[in-house]
Amino acid sequence: MTGLWVTLEGGDGSGKSTQAALLADWLATQGRTVVRTREPGGTEVGALLREIVLHHRGEIDSRAEALLYAADRAQHVSTLVRPALERGDVVIQDRYLDSSVAYQGAGRVLDAVEVRDLSLWATGGALPDVTVLLDLDPATARARLDAADKPFDRLEAEASDFHSRVRDGFLALAAAEPGRFLVLDAARPAAELAAQVRARIAPLL
Ligand code: TMP
Repeated sequence: MTGLWVTLEGGDGSGKSTQAALLADWLATQGRTVVRTREPGGTEVGALLREIVLHHRGEIDSRAEALLYAADRAQHVSTLVRPALERGDVVIQDRYLDSSVAYQGAGRVLDAVEVRDLSLWATGGALPDVTVLLDLDPATARARLDAADKPFDRLEAEASDFHSRVRDGFLALAAAEPGRFLVLDAARPAAELAAQVRARIAPLL
């Protein structure tokens, strides 16, 4: 049995965690061992980096921010993701390098190719088998976050034009790699989205 690596991407409030949970439940019924994880913060070192990058009070330089995410990613892939895939597990992961290209590239306006290359260097070129992009317009996403009534982290607190650039960044990535991406309309009901994800994953099991 070979491992399968699925990442979920999209703006804050697009429903990634809900879809990750539904996919994990279904895979368990198929008899697969599932590792659910996320970036930033999927490892012990990553949890420390997550605290800095999401909750540090005061400015973090854009390049420093990109490097912190890349450091988290390097640790995550080498100590958690790769070993799981080698065991034959299914890894379901909230966010990966596409988030860096969208947020640090399109959002912070760093060079998209440099940001992507930094992550590829960090991980020895590792790319997921499937990336599900939950596409949602930023106004709807913001309304969901407001309804959740949790304090915003550093990225969530960014202005709406930042989140519009992030969304456009994700869509451009999906258009550039149609073989890896499954783009879904995240405004649709969760059960309907889950069925579309399952339809994409099932033939790969
Ligand atoms: P989340 O775990 O709640 O999705 O929060 C992670 C935040 O970090 C989210 O706002 C997106 C942002 N982020 C980046 O800016 N770059 C990255 O490479 C990753 C993985 C996340």
